[in-house]
Amino acid sequence: MKITIMKQKNTMEMEPLTRGIVLFGATGDLCKRKLIPALHKLWEKDLLPKGFIITGAARRDIGVDAWKKSLGEYPEEFLHQLDYVSCDLSSQESLNKLPETDDTTYFLSVPPERYEWAIINLKQGGLLDDSETSRVVIEKPFGYDLKSADHLQSVVERHLREKQVYRIDHYLGKDTVNNILATRFGNVLLEPLWNREYIEEIQIFATETIGCEGRSQYYDGAGVVRDMLQNHMLQIIALIAMEAPCRMDAKEIRREKVKVLSATHLGEDMILGQYETYRDEEGVDPDSHTPTYVAGSLFIDNWRWKGVPFRFMTGKKMPYQCVEVIVKLKAPPLGLFEGETPGRIVMRLQPHAHLDIQIDVKSPGLGDSVELATLTHRYPDWLGVDGYEKLLYDAIEGDQSHFVHSEEVIESWRIVDDLLCTGDSCPIRTTPYIHEVGSWGPRNETDSITNWDYPE
Ligand code: BG6
Repeated sequence: MKITIMKQKNTMEMEPLTRGIVLFGATGDLCKRKLIPALHKLWEKDLLPKGFIITGAARRDIGVDAWKKSLGEYPEEFLHQLDYVSCDLSSQESLNKLPETDDTTYFLSVPPERYEWAIINLKQGGLLDDSETSRVVIEKPFGYDLKSADHLQSVVERHLREKQVYRIDHYLGKDTVNNILATRFGNVLLEPLWNREYIEEIQIFATETIGCEGRSQYYDGAGVVRDMLQNHMLQIIALIAMEAPCRMDAKEIRREKVKVLSATHLGEDMILGQYETYRDEEGVDPDSHTPTYVAGSLFIDNWRWKGVPFRFMTGKKMPYQCVEVIVKLKAPPLGLFEGETPGRIVMRLQPHAHLDIQIDVKSPGLGDSVELATLTHRYPDWLGVDGYEKLLYDAIEGDQSHFVHSEEVIESWRIVDDLLCTGDSCPIRTTPYIHEVGSWGPRNETDSITNWDYPE
């Protein structure tokens, strides 16, 4: 099977907007590990605008040379485009030290509790006055729950236009995630089947073998619902379930995602879990009730999906690292053949991405029985780019298609709100069940949700 993806537009012919990018949190891990390498890749491909300035900004007064040195080995010509300014987002005055450029992208790679003041100060400092020539990239999480996301959004709305706001979900920078729309809407093969008439159930897995990897300070306050479900998994579900946009542009794609998310709600069978050794990890509260695992169902109340369960499972320290969507088709109306298995469409998004279509074919020989055959397309993900490279490139171009709209983020928090409840009066049990490391979660509880097709 070969999938050809049409390019939305010839981006090389467009004049990129941004003349410079300011990376707040420049001395942090994300900047060193992801942002600078991504900008370097774009530079190597000659995709950064001429004279583009990359300004690192952080509170520490370390000087440009020490900052460059801390980033690792890069060619001199690339380093020449880097500058460093010591400034503090919580002080409007200190932002005056930033260089003035015609058109600037501000990347907030700072702790989320600083977003509100960052936006207020950047705006009041006059850096975001022109909505055509200034924009802000905001890392996840946008808010901590529905209430705080609503509050942060009210601050954003008071100071910025939506077209200036680029909310990152790094899954939207992945080729394989974006391939969901290409596979669904680039041909008519799947679309006629893609509804409650033919689909029995959809299962979505995002499972990891790693634990908190030194991030327990953040993770113990966040947990799996905030870390994976509210953003990455709901974005995948939105792409799987949305209607075709009338155009492949940010406005139309995001409009369809908002519509489908607004129709989505949790089912009743939610199970939260925690891997057995979690509380022993450094930085984790020894009595922590933070869930590291969640499984359950979502339902989408619209004509296409009413009644079809979207089962999801995500967690850390599980047997297998994998992001996968399994679309289970209904059985044919008459069981004519011995050995029939209802068909499945499997989208493996990572690792070793592939698309499988599983259908019954006649078993060779004298009988009439059938057996399962799998048609596989291996997606050439080794040719793809890192998510941040794609997202920085899009932000520089002013293309918001792969960034999350305010209404998507608010709907996503609404969907998971019950799972974030703590205390005795929660509508569902949010105290996690403890499960073994390397297991598929608390099996006794989750196996009653559905017959899971555990990835292998
Ligand atoms: C991040 C989460 O957003 O996504 C991490 O904070 C998680 O906890 C990571 O490990 C998974 O991303 P990926 O790209 O490795 O699937």
